[in-house]
Amino acid sequence: MELLIKNGTIINANSTSVADVLCRDNKIVEIGDVSITNTSVDRIIDATGCYIIPGGIDPHVHMYLPSPAGFSSDDFYSGSKAALFGGTTSIIDFVTPIMGESLQDAISKRTKESQNCLTNYSFHVSPIEWRYTIENEIDNCISKGLRSLKVYMAYKDTIGLDDEVLLKVMKVVGNAGGMVTVHCELGDEIEILRNKYITENCLTPEFHPLSRPSKLEAKAVEKAINFAKEAQCPIYIVHVSTKESLEYIREAQKKGQAVFAETCPQYLILDDSKYIGDFEKTAPFVMSPPLRKKEDIDALWDAISDGTIQTVGTDHCPFNLNQKEKGRLDFRKIPNGSGGVEHRLSLLFTYGVLQGKISINQFVALTSTNAAKLFGIYPEKGIIEVGSDADLVVWNPKIENIISASTHHQNCDNNIYEGIKTIGSPRYIIKSGQVVVENGLMIYTPFKGQLIVRK
Ligand code: URP
Ligand code: ZN
Repeated sequence: MELLIKNGTIINANSTSVADVLCRDNKIVEIGDVSITNTSVDRIIDATGCYIIPGGIDPHVHMYLPSPAGFSSDDFYSGSKAALFGGTTSIIDFVTPIMGESLQDAISKRTKESQNCLTNYSFHVSPIEWRYTIENEIDNCISKGLRSLKVYMAYKDTIGLDDEVLLKVMKVVGNAGGMVTVHCELGDEIEILRNKYITENCLTPEFHPLSRPSKLEAKAVEKAINFAKEAQCPIYIVHVSTKESLEYIREAQKKGQAVFAETCPQYLILDDSKYIGDFEKTAPFVMSPPLRKKEDIDALWDAISDGTIQTVGTDHCPFNLNQKEKGRLDFRKIPNGSGGVEHRLSLLFTYGVLQGKISINQFVALTSTNAAKLFGIYPEKGIIEVGSDADLVVWNPKIENIISASTHHQNCDNNIYEGIKTIGSPRYIIKSGQVVVENGLMIYTPFKGQLIVRK
C-alpha cells in the first residue's frame, strides 16, 4: 500500500520544509519531490495549504479507569477513537495493580482491557506498595521496555506511596535505567484539609481546589526532585499546574538534574473560577490537581515556551454527570478527572501557536517529538523522516470549530471546554500508512492499535 502526500509543509521539532511524503505500508520511504511515475501509488493526498506533522503522542491518559463511581466513561475503544479524531495516533495509559497483585499480572490484565484500542499504545506501570519481589518486578518491566514507572504522592489511602517507599522505588528504577513519573501533591496534608472542610460543612466543588492548594503541589515537586537526586533517577513530573512548582523544576534543570515536566491543556486554558456555581456546572472540573489562577496559566505558557516543560499530555479521564453526582453532598466523593484527548492539538495550536506563544515547531515538539524521545519511541515516532512510522496528521490551520459535548467523539455527556473556539484541525489522519480520518469522518477503522515497542 503506497500513499503519497503532496504539496504540504512538513513540520518537525527542528525543521520546516515543503516536500512530498511517500509512505509504503506503515513506513515513510521517501521525502522530497516524489515523481508519481516512479511509484505504484494507491492514493495521492493534496496537502496544499496544510502542515504535515508527526502523529500526536499523548503520554498521559486514563481509559477505563476504575473508581468508586464506576469506570471512567471512555474505554480504550471510544477514547482512542476520540484521540484519532484529534490527531493523536499514540497514547500512553497506566497499569495500576490492586494491592498484592504483581506488576506483571496487572500488565497482563491491562493488556487485555486495551485490546480494542485503535491508536498505538503503551503503559506507565505503577508500583503501589513495597514488597520483597518488587525490585525484580520493576527490573522485569524495564527490561521489557516498560521503562516509565508512575508513582503517586497523593491518594495515600489507595495507590499513593509514603516517602520511604517512594525513595526506594526511585533507587530501584534509577539503578535499572528507567524513569519515574510522579503525581506530585502532598497526600497527607491534602487529606487533612479535605476532612476539615467536610467537618465545617463545606461540601461543594468550590472546596476541591481549596483543599489541594498550589503550595502542596509545589512542596511535593520539591520533595520528588530531592529524592530523585538522591536516588540518581530521572523523573518526569506529570500535570504540573502551578507557578511555584515550575520554580523548583527550573532550578533542578539548571543544575543539570534529569527532571522533565508535563502540563495539560486544562491548566493552560481554564482557571479556578470554574468551581464557582451550581454542582452540575462545577463538578465536571473536579480533577487533581485542580484548575489554578491566571498567574499560574501565564507561568505555564512561559515554561512551555522556554523549554522548562517538555510535553503537553491530557490526563484524559472523563466521567459522566451521573458519576460526578456521587459527590453532590461531599466533594471528596466526586470522581476526579475530565476528558480532553480529542482537543489537545487544536487547543495548543489555537491558544499557543496562533497567539504567538509557541512556534509551530514547538507545537510538534510538545505534542509528539519530546514524548517519543522521553518514552523510548523515537525516531520511529515523533518525527517525519525516511524510516519513521507513517503516523501522520495533515493539519489544516484554518478550520474553525466550537468544542461541545454534543459533537465531540469522547464518550461523555459533558466537556470542560464546552463553547471554546478552536482554529486548526486535522484534515487527514494517517495511522500506519492508512488514512483513517478524512475531513472529520472516520473512513477506515484500524482493527486495533499496536502495543508500542519501547527502547
Ligand atoms: O483528576 C485526575 N487527574 N484523575 C485521573 C487520575 C490522576 O490523578 O491522574
Ligand atoms: Zn493522570
